[in-house]
Amino acid sequence: MARIEDVAARAGVSVGTVSNVLNRPHAVAPKTRARVEAAITELGYLPNESARALVSGRSRTVGLVVPDVTNPFFADLARGAEEVADKHDVVVMLYNSADSIERELRYLGRLETQRVQGILVTPVDRGGRAVEDLISRGTPVVLLDRGQPSRNVCSVTVDHRAGGRLAGTHLTELGHRRIAFLGGPLSAPQVADRLDGARQAATAAGAVLETIETSALTVAAGREAAGALALRDAGERPSAVFCANDLLALGVLQTVTREGLRVPEDLAIVGYDDIEFAAAAAVPLTSVRQPREQLGRVAAELLFEEIHDAGRHGHRQVAFQPELVVRRS
Ligand code: RIB
Repeated sequence: MARIEDVAARAGVSVGTVSNVLNRPHAVAPKTRARVEAAITELGYLPNESARALVSGRSRTVGLVVPDVTNPFFADLARGAEEVADKHDVVVMLYNSADSIERELRYLGRLETQRVQGILVTPVDRGGRAVEDLISRGTPVVLLDRGQPSRNVCSVTVDHRAGGRLAGTHLTELGHRRIAFLGGPLSAPQVADRLDGARQAATAAGAVLETIETSALTVAAGREAAGALALRDAGERPSAVFCANDLLALGVLQTVTREGLRVPEDLAIVGYDDIEFAAAAAVPLTSVRQPREQLGRVAAELLFEEIHDAGRHGHRQVAFQPELVVRRS
């Protein structure tokens, strides 16, 4: 196995120059860089990333911890974050906390011991103690999709009350006077905020909004809740349902159509996130769109700003506005 010293000798430069070509190529004259790269290829030299991380004290990675990797919402977030990380020659390590506080804490601890440069996290643990501890021990963190009252951390979120109002107003303007909100757990801030916004809109229009709490924000939870809805007599059933995310809405759509209900004639459906499958659904879903990749990009930009210049970095809470995308459901 060729060593860095062999590359230096072959290219006629110092070991430090070879290290610069590997870690700060822009700092090396093009001709010198070309000679070193030729020597690396000829010798088949393989840099030791772990050794480099030991020397520099930080690995060339950032962590991204999300509650549900099966939800396309987070895949889109990750794509945006990775686009920015790649520009910094950093890789993103994706962890699925599966909505478990215990798992989230374990993964945050592992990322810290691996000396990642920073962490993006959609926290399940709303108490935020683990995040505060990470920051106090020197690992930059940015919160994604869920804010935190304290001001010593950046966050990138969407105004979910506004999103709930968009959905509720859309349905009341269509004439719906009996609406169901489907989502949960209601302890999740982004679910509670969407419900709150929808309730504001329903109240303003004199409509009735019933809440059907689900155990999760998944297709399966949507199917289960819709099964109960479909069994109700027409006079007891809401004429519209606002789902806290598109996965729930897709589960509702699948079940109620299987039970013979027409969408939107018998039951109008609105989702949230506007993931790619919303438009592709059998009845294209009306959905409240979140700028998913942009959320990931901005969060990563804030993280690298803090990583590269903590002294000048000022923590900020960035909140985007959602938009209603009207389709057939
Ligand atoms: O955590 C699941 C949901 O929360 C996603 O669907 C998205 O709406 C996020 O805000």
